[in-house]
Amino acid sequence: MSLTIHWPNGCISRCAPGRDWLLAARDAGCSIPTGCLGGSCGACEIEVNGQVVRACIATVPASRSGELRVELASDPHW
Ligand code: FES
Repeated sequence: MSLTIHWPNGCISRCAPGRDWLLAARDAGCSIPTGCLGGSCGACEIEVNGQVVRACIATVPASRSGELRVELASDPHW
């Protein structure tokens, strides 16, 4: 089942759970800032339905509602 994702730039895309966040963002025409691509710097942090995830090491989760709302995390740690 695919999910509807609401991106911070106003785009809405559909995506299957399990896809890499960075690829899902690219599909949607939204870019997530990245740094190390290894899960340690936090540059790629996004909030997904209010939960902070590191996009470079996470995949799109299943969602019971079928919708996810993405925000760029407002305060990077560096
Ligand atoms: S790019 Fe460094 S934690 Fe994701």
